[in-house]
Amino acid sequence: MPARDDIRIAVIGLGYVGLPLAVAFGRKHATLGFDIDRDRIDGLRAAHDHTRELSADELHAASRLRYSDDAAALADCNVHIVTVPTPVDAYKRPDLSALESASRAVGAALGAGHVVIFESTVYPGATEEICVPILEQASGLRFREDFHVGYSPERINPGDKQHRLENTLKVTAGSCPASAGFVDALYRDIIEAGTHRVSSIRVAEAAKVIENTQRDVNIALVNELALIFERLGIDTHEVLEAAGTKWNFLPFRPGLVGGHCIGVDPYYLTHKAQAIGYHPEVILAGRRINDSMGLHVAQRVVKLMHQRGLQTAGARVLVLGLAFKENCPDLRNTRVVDVIAELRSYGVEVDVHDPWVAPAYAQAEHGLSLVDTPEHGRYDAMILAVPHAQFVALGSAGIRGYGKPGAVLFDVKAVLAEADARL
Ligand SMILES: NC(=O)c1ccc[n+]([C@@H]2O[C@H](COP(=O)([O-])OP(=O)(O)OC[C@H]3O[C@@H](n4cnc5c(N)ncnc54)[C@H](O)[C@@H]3O)[C@@H](O)[C@H]2O)c1
Repeated sequence: MPARDDIRIAVIGLGYVGLPLAVAFGRKHATLGFDIDRDRIDGLRAAHDHTRELSADELHAASRLRYSDDAAALADCNVHIVTVPTPVDAYKRPDLSALESASRAVGAALGAGHVVIFESTVYPGATEEICVPILEQASGLRFREDFHVGYSPERINPGDKQHRLENTLKVTAGSCPASAGFVDALYRDIIEAGTHRVSSIRVAEAAKVIENTQRDVNIALVNELALIFERLGIDTHEVLEAAGTKWNFLPFRPGLVGGHCIGVDPYYLTHKAQAIGYHPEVILAGRRINDSMGLHVAQRVVKLMHQRGLQTAGARVLVLGLAFKENCPDLRNTRVVDVIAELRSYGVEVDVHDPWVAPAYAQAEHGLSLVDTPEHGRYDAMILAVPHAQFVALGSAGIRGYGKPGAVLFDVKAVLAEADARL
C-alpha cells in the first residue's frame, strides 16, 4: 500500500459526494478530481460549484487539488476513491452502469500496491461481486495480492450546512486487516469526528443502505398516519407533537420522499434480498406509501377547491418548490412532479416557481418551464411543496398574496403559521 508520504489520491465523480471529499483531501494530499462531465470540470476550474455545497473560497483552500476529465490522468494516482451515482432504472432496479464504467477506468490505471475505495451506495456484496472482477480484468492484477479495496459510505446531506463531511463520523472497511487500517487512517486525516471501522466491506455496504431504508420506512409510517388522520379529521402534526412528548417517540414528519438516496437505496437492498430468495414486505410497503404521497397532495387540493366551488378545469395553481428538498437545487427523483402531473390530469394549469433550481435544469429533466416571478392575485390555489427559506420568510400572508380571494393554500411540510390544509 502507498507510503504515508506518497499518497496521491484520485476522486472519481465530483458530485454532491465527490467534490467535498476531493476538497477535503486536496488540503492535505496531492489530489486529482476526475469527472467525465467536461462542463463540471470547467466550472470547478473556475471555482464554481453548481451544487452550491462549496464556496469559491472553500474550493481555493484545497491547494493540492487539480481537476481533469481525462481518464489518463488517473495513472499518476495510487489511491482511487469512487463516488459516482448509483441510481435505479425505470423498473426500480439498481443501475450500476456508472459504477462499472468508473471501475473500468480505475482498473486501466491501476498499479501494484494501489488501493481502490468505493463510496457509492450499493447493496451488500456489490463491491466485491461487481467492481472487483472489473478491476482485475481491466488491470490484469490480482485482488488482495496486487491491489486492495476499501469501502467507506458517504453520509453527506445536500443543503445541510451543519452536518458536513468533516464533522460526521465515517464508517470504514477494507478487504483485509492491513487495507482496513490504511483506509481508516486515510479518512482520519480529514474527518474530525473520527471513524468507525468495521470487519468487512459487506458490513459497511449494509450499514449505509439501511441508514436510508430505516428513514424511508419511518417516514412511510407517519405518511400512513397522515392518511388515516386526514380521514378522521385530526391534525397529524398536533398528534405527532403530543406523542413526541414521550421520551422514545421518534420525530419523523409526513412529506414527499424524493432525492437519490432515501427513495432509491431501499431498492438496492430489496433487489439483493430478492436475488437470494427473500421477498421483503415492510420495506416495499413503505416505498409504495411514500411514492403515493404526491397524488394524495394533489387530490386534497382538488377536493378543497371543489368544496369552495372552484372549478378545477382551467384553474391556475402555483406550486412553490420543485427541488427534492428545501434549500437545495437538486431535482433528482423529486416527487413534486407527481403533484404537478396529478393536478394537470384534472385540467389544472400549473405554474412552478423555484428560486433554487436552474430553469434549464428543470426544462431538461422534466420539461417544465419555471415561472421566474409569480404574479400576485392570479392563482386559485398555492401549494407550498418545498419549504425553501425564501418561502418560509414570505409566510402565509405573503404566499396568499399570489392567490385570488378565497384561493386554497396547502402547506405540504407544515412550516407556515396558517394554511387551509397540510399533510
Ligand atoms: N448526495 C448525497 O446526499 C449522498 C449521500 C450519501 C451517499 N450518496 C451516494 O454517493 C454516490 C454519488 O452520489 P452524488 O450525489 O455525489 O452523485 P452526483 O450525481 O451528484 O455526482 C456524480 C458525479 O459523477 C460523475 N460521473 C458519472 N459517471 C462517472 C464515471 N464513470 N466516471 C467519472 N465520473 C462520473 C457525474 O458526472 C457527476 O458529476 C451515490 O452512490 C449516492 O447514492 C449520495
